[in-house]
Amino acid sequence: MLKKLSVAVAGFVLLGSALAGCGSSGDDSSGSGKKDGKIVLGFSQVGAESGWRTANTKSIQDSAKAAGIELKFSDAQGKQENQISAIRSFITQKVDVIAFSPVVTSGWDAVLKEAKDANIPVILTDRAVDSQDTSLYVSFLGSDFIEEGKKAGQWLVDQYKGKSGPVNIVELQGTTGAAPAIDRQKGFAETIAADPNLKIVKSQTGDFTRAQGKTVMETFLQSTPKIDVLYAHNDDMGLGAIEAIEAAGKKPGQDIKIITVDAVKDGMTALSEGKINYIVECSPLLGPQLMDIAKQVKDGGTPEKRILTKETTFTQEQAKTELPNRQY
Ligand code: AHR
Repeated sequence: MLKKLSVAVAGFVLLGSALAGCGSSGDDSSGSGKKDGKIVLGFSQVGAESGWRTANTKSIQDSAKAAGIELKFSDAQGKQENQISAIRSFITQKVDVIAFSPVVTSGWDAVLKEAKDANIPVILTDRAVDSQDTSLYVSFLGSDFIEEGKKAGQWLVDQYKGKSGPVNIVELQGTTGAAPAIDRQKGFAETIAADPNLKIVKSQTGDFTRAQGKTVMETFLQSTPKIDVLYAHNDDMGLGAIEAIEAAGKKPGQDIKIITVDAVKDGMTALSEGKINYIVECSPLLGPQLMDIAKQVKDGGTPEKRILTKETTFTQEQAKTELPNRQY
Protein backbone atom coordinates (compact mmCIF):
# COMPACT_ATOMS: atom_id res chain seq x y z
CA MET A 1 0.00 0.00 0.00
CA LEU A 2 2.79 2.35 1.08
CA LYS A 3 4.77 1.34 -2.02
CA LYS A 4 1.77 2.10 -4.29
CA LEU A 5 1.34 5.51 -2.67
CA SER A 6 4.99 6.46 -3.16
CA VAL A 7 4.85 5.40 -6.84
CA ALA A 8 1.78 7.60 -7.32
CA VAL A 9 3.50 10.55 -5.61
CA ALA A 10 6.64 10.09 -7.74
CA GLY A 11 4.51 10.03 -10.89
CA PHE A 12 2.78 13.25 -9.85
CA VAL A 13 6.12 14.96 -9.17
CA LEU A 14 7.44 13.84 -12.57
CA LEU A 15 4.37 15.17 -14.40
CA GLY A 16 4.70 18.42 -12.50
CA SER A 17 8.34 18.89 -13.48
CA ALA A 18 7.61 18.04 -17.13
CA LEU A 19 5.10 20.86 -17.18
CA ALA A 20 7.34 23.25 -15.23
CA GLY A 21 7.76 26.47 -17.11
CA CYS A 22 4.51 25.80 -18.97
CA GLY A 23 2.81 29.04 -18.13
CA SER A 24 2.07 32.36 -19.73
CA SER A 25 4.66 35.07 -20.31
CA GLY A 26 4.19 36.57 -16.92
CA ASP A 27 0.37 36.62 -17.10
CA ASP A 28 -2.10 34.00 -15.96
CA SER A 29 -1.14 30.36 -16.61
CA SER A 30 -4.30 28.64 -15.40
CA GLY A 31 -7.50 27.60 -17.18
CA SER A 32 -8.35 28.00 -20.86
CA GLY A 33 -7.58 31.69 -20.63
CA LYS A 34 -10.33 32.71 -23.09
CA LYS A 35 -10.83 36.08 -21.43
CA ASP A 36 -11.62 39.40 -23.07
CA GLY A 37 -12.03 37.69 -26.47
CA LYS A 38 -8.22 37.59 -26.72
CA ILE A 39 -6.56 34.95 -28.87
CA VAL A 40 -4.76 32.46 -26.63
CA LEU A 41 -1.55 31.12 -28.16
CA GLY A 42 0.33 28.21 -26.58
CA PHE A 43 4.00 28.31 -27.54
CA SER A 44 6.54 25.59 -26.77
CA GLN A 45 10.11 26.85 -27.09
CA VAL A 46 13.18 24.60 -27.52
CA GLY A 47 15.05 26.07 -24.55
CA ALA A 48 17.70 28.73 -24.03
CA GLU A 49 20.71 27.08 -25.67
CA SER A 50 22.00 30.07 -27.63
CA GLY A 51 21.95 33.84 -28.09
CA TRP A 52 19.71 33.21 -31.12
CA ARG A 53 17.17 31.36 -28.96
CA THR A 54 17.10 34.13 -26.33
CA ALA A 55 16.42 36.70 -29.07
CA ASN A 56 13.72 34.46 -30.57
CA THR A 57 11.95 34.09 -27.21
CA LYS A 58 12.04 37.86 -26.67
CA SER A 59 10.68 38.49 -30.17
CA ILE A 60 7.74 36.12 -29.55
CA GLN A 61 6.94 37.49 -26.09
CA ASP A 62 7.19 41.15 -27.18
CA SER A 63 5.14 40.57 -30.33
CA ALA A 64 2.37 38.73 -28.46
CA LYS A 65 2.08 41.69 -26.10
CA ALA A 66 2.04 44.20 -28.95
CA ALA A 67 -0.59 42.18 -30.85
CA GLY A 68 -2.85 41.77 -27.80
CA ILE A 69 -2.45 37.99 -27.89
CA GLU A 70 -2.36 36.04 -24.63
CA LEU A 71 0.78 33.90 -24.73
CA LYS A 72 1.17 30.70 -22.77
CA PHE A 73 4.92 30.17 -23.00
CA SER A 74 6.64 26.90 -22.17
CA ASP A 75 10.41 26.26 -22.12
CA ALA A 76 11.20 22.61 -23.02
CA GLN A 77 14.79 22.82 -21.76
CA GLY A 78 15.99 21.00 -24.89
CA LYS A 79 13.81 17.93 -24.31
CA GLN A 80 11.28 16.60 -26.81
CA GLU A 81 9.25 14.90 -24.05
CA ASN A 82 8.75 18.30 -22.38
CA GLN A 83 7.49 19.76 -25.66
CA ILE A 84 5.03 16.89 -26.08
CA SER A 85 3.78 17.40 -22.49
CA ALA A 86 3.44 21.14 -23.10
CA ILE A 87 1.45 20.62 -26.32
CA ARG A 88 -0.86 18.15 -24.51
CA SER A 89 -1.30 20.70 -21.73
CA PHE A 90 -2.23 23.39 -24.32
CA ILE A 91 -4.80 20.98 -25.80
CA THR A 92 -6.31 20.36 -22.35
CA GLN A 93 -6.43 24.11 -21.75
CA LYS A 94 -8.23 24.54 -25.11
CA VAL A 95 -5.96 27.31 -26.38
CA ASP A 96 -6.93 28.84 -29.74
CA VAL A 97 -3.64 28.18 -31.54
CA ILE A 98 -0.50 26.16 -30.75
CA ALA A 99 2.94 27.07 -32.08
CA PHE A 100 6.23 25.36 -31.41
CA SER A 101 9.83 25.12 -32.52
CA PRO A 102 10.55 21.37 -32.58
CA VAL A 103 13.73 20.27 -30.80
CA VAL A 104 14.16 17.44 -33.36
CA THR A 105 12.38 16.65 -36.63
CA SER A 106 10.90 13.22 -35.86
CA GLY A 107 8.34 11.78 -33.43
CA TRP A 108 5.56 14.37 -33.62
CA ASP A 109 2.74 12.62 -35.49
CA ALA A 110 0.81 11.35 -32.45
CA VAL A 111 0.68 14.64 -30.55
CA LEU A 112 -0.02 16.67 -33.72
CA LYS A 113 -2.90 14.31 -34.47
CA GLU A 114 -4.25 14.96 -30.96
CA ALA A 115 -4.19 18.72 -31.64
CA LYS A 116 -5.88 18.22 -35.00
CA ASP A 117 -8.61 16.04 -33.44
CA ALA A 118 -9.18 18.83 -30.89
CA ASN A 119 -9.51 21.34 -33.79
CA ILE A 120 -6.55 23.39 -32.58
CA PRO A 121 -4.39 24.66 -35.46
CA VAL A 122 -0.63 24.19 -35.09
CA ILE A 123 2.00 26.56 -36.52
CA LEU A 124 5.61 25.38 -36.81
CA THR A 125 8.10 28.15 -36.15
CA ASP A 126 11.82 28.12 -36.89
CA ARG A 127 12.20 24.34 -37.32
CA ALA A 128 10.47 21.66 -39.39
CA VAL A 129 9.05 18.23 -38.52
CA ASP A 130 9.41 15.20 -40.81
CA SER A 131 5.70 14.22 -40.68
CA GLN A 132 4.49 12.91 -44.04
CA ASP A 133 0.98 14.17 -43.26
CA THR A 134 1.37 17.92 -43.75
CA SER A 135 -2.26 18.52 -42.75
CA LEU A 136 -1.06 18.12 -39.14
CA TYR A 137 0.11 21.76 -39.18
CA VAL A 138 -1.27 24.85 -40.90
CA SER A 139 1.93 26.71 -41.63
CA PHE A 140 5.69 26.58 -41.21
CA LEU A 141 7.45 29.90 -40.61
CA GLY A 142 11.25 29.97 -40.61
CA SER A 143 14.56 29.92 -42.45
CA ASP A 144 15.78 27.73 -45.28
CA PHE A 145 18.56 25.91 -43.43
CA ILE A 146 19.81 24.06 -46.52
CA GLU A 147 20.28 27.41 -48.22
CA GLU A 148 22.22 28.66 -45.17
CA GLY A 149 24.58 25.68 -45.42
CA LYS A 150 25.01 26.35 -49.14
CA LYS A 151 25.89 30.00 -48.52
CA ALA A 152 28.55 28.94 -45.98
CA GLY A 153 29.95 26.38 -48.44
CA GLN A 154 29.95 28.80 -51.37
CA TRP A 155 32.00 31.35 -49.43
CA LEU A 156 34.61 28.67 -48.78
CA VAL A 157 34.65 27.48 -52.39
CA ASP A 158 35.26 31.09 -53.50
CA GLN A 159 38.06 31.58 -50.94
CA TYR A 160 40.01 28.59 -52.18
CA LYS A 161 39.31 28.98 -55.91
CA GLY A 162 42.48 28.36 -57.95
CA LYS A 163 44.50 27.28 -54.89
CA SER A 164 46.12 23.88 -54.60
CA GLY A 165 46.57 21.45 -51.70
CA PRO A 166 44.12 19.91 -49.26
CA VAL A 167 41.99 22.14 -47.00
CA ASN A 168 41.09 20.41 -43.74
CA ILE A 169 37.69 21.42 -42.40
CA VAL A 170 36.27 20.59 -38.97
CA GLU A 171 32.53 20.92 -38.44
CA LEU A 172 30.63 21.66 -35.23
CA GLN A 173 27.11 20.39 -35.79
CA GLY A 174 23.98 21.59 -34.05
CA THR A 175 21.74 19.35 -31.94
CA THR A 176 21.59 15.82 -33.36
CA GLY A 177 18.32 15.26 -35.22
CA ALA A 178 17.39 18.97 -35.30
CA ALA A 179 16.39 20.43 -38.66
CA PRO A 180 19.09 23.15 -38.71
CA ALA A 181 21.82 20.58 -37.93
CA ILE A 182 20.66 18.17 -40.65
CA ASP A 183 20.11 20.84 -43.30
CA ARG A 184 23.15 23.04 -42.63
CA GLN A 185 25.35 19.97 -42.89
CA LYS A 186 23.67 18.87 -46.12
CA GLY A 187 23.77 22.25 -47.86
CA PHE A 188 27.41 22.81 -46.91
CA ALA A 189 28.60 19.31 -47.91
CA GLU A 190 26.83 19.49 -51.29
CA THR A 191 28.36 22.87 -52.10
CA ILE A 192 31.97 22.19 -51.11
CA ALA A 193 31.86 19.00 -53.22
CA ALA A 194 32.59 21.37 -56.14
CA ASP A 195 36.23 21.53 -54.95
CA PRO A 196 37.86 18.14 -54.18
CA ASN A 197 40.54 19.91 -52.09
CA LEU A 198 37.92 20.85 -49.49
CA LYS A 199 37.63 17.97 -47.03
CA ILE A 200 35.59 17.63 -43.82
CA VAL A 201 38.05 15.75 -41.60
CA LYS A 202 36.05 15.88 -38.34
CA SER A 203 32.36 16.50 -37.68
CA GLN A 204 30.68 16.30 -34.28
CA THR A 205 27.74 17.81 -32.44
CA GLY A 206 28.26 20.72 -30.07
CA ASP A 207 24.49 20.87 -29.35
CA PHE A 208 24.32 24.57 -30.38
CA THR A 209 25.92 25.67 -27.07
CA ARG A 210 29.04 27.72 -26.41
CA ALA A 211 30.28 25.30 -23.71
CA GLN A 212 30.09 22.25 -25.98
CA GLY A 213 31.53 24.16 -28.92
CA LYS A 214 34.60 24.81 -26.76
CA THR A 215 34.90 21.23 -25.48
CA VAL A 216 34.53 19.62 -28.90
CA MET A 217 36.97 22.08 -30.50
CA GLU A 218 39.53 21.19 -27.81
CA THR A 219 39.29 17.53 -28.84
CA PHE A 220 39.51 18.46 -32.55
CA LEU A 221 42.68 20.46 -31.86
CA GLN A 222 44.25 17.59 -29.90
CA SER A 223 43.44 14.94 -32.50
CA THR A 224 43.92 16.84 -35.76
CA PRO A 225 47.40 18.26 -36.47
CA LYS A 226 46.32 20.54 -39.35
CA ILE A 227 42.98 22.37 -39.17
CA ASP A 228 42.46 25.05 -41.84
CA VAL A 229 38.77 25.82 -41.45
CA LEU A 230 36.06 25.56 -38.79
CA TYR A 231 32.42 25.49 -39.91
CA ALA A 232 30.13 25.90 -36.86
CA HIS A 233 26.37 25.55 -37.27
CA ASN A 234 25.82 28.57 -35.00
CA ASP A 235 27.66 31.57 -33.55
CA ASP A 236 27.63 30.25 -29.99
CA MET A 237 29.54 27.07 -30.84
CA GLY A 238 31.93 29.15 -32.95
CA LEU A 239 32.53 31.51 -30.02
CA GLY A 240 33.22 28.57 -27.69
CA ALA A 241 35.61 27.15 -30.28
CA ILE A 242 37.44 30.50 -30.49
CA GLU A 243 38.23 30.20 -26.76
CA ALA A 244 39.69 26.72 -27.38
CA ILE A 245 41.71 27.93 -30.39
CA GLU A 246 43.17 30.88 -28.45
CA ALA A 247 43.97 28.61 -25.49
CA ALA A 248 45.90 26.38 -27.94
CA GLY A 249 48.02 29.39 -28.93
CA LYS A 250 46.47 29.84 -32.39
CA LYS A 251 44.83 32.90 -33.94
CA PRO A 252 41.15 32.42 -34.81
CA GLY A 253 40.30 33.92 -38.20
CA GLN A 254 43.95 33.66 -39.32
CA ASP A 255 45.46 30.28 -38.42
CA ILE A 256 41.99 28.75 -38.67
CA LYS A 257 39.31 30.36 -40.84
CA ILE A 258 35.90 30.34 -39.16
CA ILE A 259 32.42 30.34 -40.69
CA THR A 260 29.31 30.41 -38.48
CA VAL A 261 25.54 30.84 -38.81
CA ASP A 262 23.14 33.25 -36.98
CA ALA A 263 24.74 36.75 -36.82
CA VAL A 264 23.81 37.55 -33.22
CA LYS A 265 25.61 40.52 -31.64
CA ASP A 266 28.40 38.44 -30.03
CA GLY A 267 29.06 36.67 -33.33
CA MET A 268 29.05 39.95 -35.26
CA THR A 269 31.47 41.46 -32.73
CA ALA A 270 33.90 38.56 -33.23
CA LEU A 271 33.47 38.92 -37.02
CA SER A 272 34.24 42.65 -36.90
CA GLU A 273 37.33 41.90 -34.76
CA GLY A 274 38.61 39.42 -37.37
CA LYS A 275 38.15 36.32 -35.20
CA ILE A 276 35.37 34.96 -37.45
CA ASN A 277 35.68 35.24 -41.24
CA TYR A 278 32.10 34.93 -42.47
CA ILE A 279 28.61 34.66 -40.96
CA VAL A 280 25.45 33.42 -42.65
CA GLU A 281 22.47 35.19 -41.13
CA CYS A 282 19.55 33.28 -39.53
CA SER A 283 16.95 35.69 -38.19
CA PRO A 284 15.33 34.96 -34.82
CA LEU A 285 12.83 37.82 -35.17
CA LEU A 286 9.89 35.57 -36.01
CA GLY A 287 7.45 37.02 -33.46
CA PRO A 288 5.56 39.61 -35.57
CA GLN A 289 4.93 37.16 -38.44
CA LEU A 290 3.89 34.42 -36.00
CA MET A 291 1.27 36.71 -34.42
CA ASP A 292 -0.07 37.64 -37.89
CA ILE A 293 -0.41 33.97 -38.80
CA ALA A 294 -2.14 33.18 -35.48
CA LYS A 295 -4.67 35.98 -36.12
CA GLN A 296 -5.22 34.84 -39.69
CA VAL A 297 -5.84 31.25 -38.59
CA LYS A 298 -8.20 32.33 -35.78
CA ASP A 299 -10.19 34.40 -38.31
CA GLY A 300 -10.66 31.29 -40.44
CA GLY A 301 -8.04 32.27 -43.03
CA THR A 302 -5.55 29.97 -44.71
CA PRO A 303 -1.94 31.12 -44.28
CA GLU A 304 0.79 30.15 -46.74
CA LYS A 305 1.98 26.62 -45.95
CA ARG A 306 5.66 27.70 -46.03
CA ILE A 307 6.73 31.21 -45.05
CA LEU A 308 10.44 31.84 -45.54
CA THR A 309 12.47 34.30 -43.49
CA LYS A 310 14.53 36.92 -45.38
CA GLU A 311 18.24 36.65 -44.60
CA THR A 312 21.65 37.79 -45.74
CA THR A 313 25.36 37.09 -45.12
CA PHE A 314 28.13 39.17 -43.53
CA THR A 315 31.83 39.65 -44.25
CA GLN A 316 34.17 41.23 -41.69
CA GLU A 317 33.78 44.68 -43.30
CA GLN A 318 29.99 44.41 -43.47
CA ALA A 319 29.88 43.40 -39.79
CA LYS A 320 31.63 46.67 -38.79
CA THR A 321 28.89 48.68 -40.52
CA GLU A 322 26.00 46.52 -39.30
CA LEU A 323 27.05 46.06 -35.66
CA PRO A 324 25.74 49.40 -34.27
CA ASN A 325 22.25 48.60 -35.66
CA ARG A 326 22.12 45.01 -34.52
CA GLN A 327 19.03 44.45 -32.34
CA TYR A 328 20.03 41.11 -30.84
O1 AHR B 1 16.84 26.66 -35.06
C1 AHR B 1 17.68 27.77 -35.12
C2 AHR B 1 18.97 27.45 -34.48
O2 AHR B 1 18.77 27.06 -33.15
C3 AHR B 1 19.95 28.60 -34.38
O3 AHR B 1 20.79 28.72 -35.48
C4 AHR B 1 20.75 28.19 -33.20
O4 AHR B 1 21.57 29.19 -32.68
C5 AHR B 1 19.67 27.77 -32.31
O5 AHR B 1 19.99 27.21 -31.16
